[in-house]
Amino acid sequence: MSSNYYIKRDVFFQKLRFIFLLALLSIATTSFAQVRVVTELRDNWKFRKGQDEAAYQKEFNDKSWQTVTVPHDWAIYGPFSKEVDKQEVAIVQNNEKVATEKTGRTGALPYIGEGWYRNTFTLPHYKPGQKVILLFEGAMSEPKVYLNGEKVGEWNFGYNYFYFDVSEHIVASKPNTLAVQLSNKGLSSRWYPGAGLYRKVQVIVKNQESIDQWGTFITTPFVSAGLAKVNIKTKVSGENIRLVTSIVDAAGETVATDETQTIFANEFEQNIGVKNPKLWSPESPNLYTAVTRLYIGNELKDEITTRFGIRAISYQAGVGFSLNGEVRKFKGVCLHHDLGPLGAAVNKAALRRQLQILKDMGCDAIRSSHNMPSIEQLELCDELGFMFLAESFDEWEKPKVKNGYNRFFQTDAEKDIVNLVHATRNHPCIVMWSSGNEVPDQHGAEGVKHAKRLQEIFRREDPTRPVTVGMDQVKATMASGFGAVLDVPGLNYRTHLYEDAFKAFPQGFILGSETASTVSSRGVYKFPVEKGPEKTYPDGQSSSYDLEYCNWSNIPEDDFILQDTKPWVIGQFVWTGFDYLGEPTPYDNFWPSRSSYFGINDLAGLPKDRYFLYRSQWNAQDQTLHMLPHWNWAGREGQVTPIFVYTNHDSAELFINGKSMGVQRKNNASPLHRYRLMWMDVKYEPGTVRVVAFDKDGKPATEKTMVTAGKPHKLVLESDRKIITADGQDISFVTVSVVDEKGNPYPLSNDQLTFSVSGNGKYLAACNGDATSLEQFHLPTMKLFSGKLVVLVQSTTKPGNIKLSVKGKNLKAAELLLQSR
Ligand code: GAL
Repeated sequence: MSSNYYIKRDVFFQKLRFIFLLALLSIATTSFAQVRVVTELRDNWKFRKGQDEAAYQKEFNDKSWQTVTVPHDWAIYGPFSKEVDKQEVAIVQNNEKVATEKTGRTGALPYIGEGWYRNTFTLPHYKPGQKVILLFEGAMSEPKVYLNGEKVGEWNFGYNYFYFDVSEHIVASKPNTLAVQLSNKGLSSRWYPGAGLYRKVQVIVKNQESIDQWGTFITTPFVSAGLAKVNIKTKVSGENIRLVTSIVDAAGETVATDETQTIFANEFEQNIGVKNPKLWSPESPNLYTAVTRLYIGNELKDEITTRFGIRAISYQAGVGFSLNGEVRKFKGVCLHHDLGPLGAAVNKAALRRQLQILKDMGCDAIRSSHNMPSIEQLELCDELGFMFLAESFDEWEKPKVKNGYNRFFQTDAEKDIVNLVHATRNHPCIVMWSSGNEVPDQHGAEGVKHAKRLQEIFRREDPTRPVTVGMDQVKATMASGFGAVLDVPGLNYRTHLYEDAFKAFPQGFILGSETASTVSSRGVYKFPVEKGPEKTYPDGQSSSYDLEYCNWSNIPEDDFILQDTKPWVIGQFVWTGFDYLGEPTPYDNFWPSRSSYFGINDLAGLPKDRYFLYRSQWNAQDQTLHMLPHWNWAGREGQVTPIFVYTNHDSAELFINGKSMGVQRKNNASPLHRYRLMWMDVKYEPGTVRVVAFDKDGKPATEKTMVTAGKPHKLVLESDRKIITADGQDISFVTVSVVDEKGNPYPLSNDQLTFSVSGNGKYLAACNGDATSLEQFHLPTMKLFSGKLVVLVQSTTKPGNIKLSVKGKNLKAAELLLQSR
């Protein structure tokens, strides 16, 4: 990566940090009412894997259980095992006809079985008669919740947010005991689902006369440069209520206030004008806060703050998608919910890092495939500026996996959608819902009915956003009418059917809801360099020449062409932004593969070459100039070793040891030639490779050099953030690489390293992006993969210095000082 890249990123993130601070300030000044107390249950949970009949009881001895903090994923600590969730199946979506043994399909991590969590908490501020809500933002899975020995509720779907009113079960001034039982079945997922209380748990204490949970719905039905109408619906409990709502901008200024006593059943509706609104968009993620105060007489009974954005979206035949009146196409990626070495346990620093990496690539949209996103991810997308396609299900009535959501579809789909919409609808980032992904119900008349019904539920709960389904059975959905009923027809792959679908469907536009699915392993290159589907190699890796894909998918260029030439294609969501645990296609049958190869970035968050291909198309502000492969090919001397260049420029000249290999110019000879510069006949000789890219006038615009590195000499550490927050959650991501004596990156090292952290921080995990590695992330040792890995250092709650030391045999060790504040 060029230093230019880092400088640009730094300036960008400084700006973001400033915006952040402003946002925080505005919240801090407006949200300290004592009428409502929200407590996050984070620390001192007791956890045990396995069944225990008595663990729900209040008086139960859990002393010997493990002490954990929540969010927690019990399965991520491994060990990896071939036997976990081993499946003898034919994956129908992958066009398989014959059942074969699948290992690693769900990550080969021990997520199956039961687990118990217990937590004891007091509510010193609680007054008898108040309302108490217990809120979970997701629990994997089938949680049964007990408070003080009594069952208060259960919820099947592991990806949903849910809450229970536990007012009747709370005891004042004494400790309350919460116990949660979770159980995960094998054959319940197509990827690594994680296990346990992997998202926040909160207790909310408020007055009886108060705003209902998720009771606020803010929309902006009229937006112009001079004025925006902010419509706020607020559901409340209580009589003779007066509601006062103020709108506060990012600088903390109150820009409008409205008071009402007119209640319709249990709902207030306010229309508030905001003059000269600062609109929300990916480029300027301006946010406002609505502060809603509920009074009876002059007594303040409740107060909540809701962050929102002012923006207008529209989807129109002949126009496409527009945001704030400007037509644009989604430059999106699909993301699974796991955070690589952290598993499914939500962590804001890890989510933020992912988004920052994607931002630099020029990405402006995320699809939460194939389930409901974490609230933290939505908050970050609001703040950093990403449009969001929030998906609900991977299965409806017909199964993909035996124990998947099909078990709950009939009974739960409606309440699951209602909770999704209610919990997340005020996030300006969400611009579209998805009711399903490649559901087998695409076939048959019942499926059309389901599609209609689910869409109607979404529309009933939120009339402002359209609904899509990611469709892979495109011909079937054209014939049955399934595709025609959707607000937005989403095509997964099938680039050859876009034209037909556009003609067959009435909407007048098509979304690439899932695109590309090119596979690669960071830093690995295979010869000869040939395009083709389903290629496999004995080492379980895929080539980073970015020419390998699946029998149903394609290379990035096939989608670029559709996006660039068809005005009715409204954008794409690439499968996937980052590698994820499970689904190791094309190595579904190959052990030890246990994570995906689809990522534009690897499981450690390190960019693969493909990152620069997308960056060259999507990031319009910055120059991109990237060369591949690396240039350390001892043994390949004299053999053809093609060089590819990914750049936003149209042409470039390549030199090897000073000798020109000629100028290449993007052209229309093939999809590849249109987006890549390729020197196919280059023969390897060690030394220096230099590429000079030319601007439109043919003048040198930028250049880049890579050299054949000498022997690996020392370790180099580089962190994404040197100063982190002393909250026990924040993480610094430190990239470890190997260089030769002159400081040139050595791209082949796979040395075993060890890590230690001293001071006010702790070693959290490491990840090298190797999909075949069975090393456990949380142990302080790991092999490098293609010369790199990432170490995660976490703060404690004590501020101070943190030192990370990394050692490897025959390599000069390295240390890095971090600070937590
Ligand atoms: C799609 C599916 C994704 C993933 C992907 C791999 O068909 O929706 O979940 O399996 O294929 O290419």
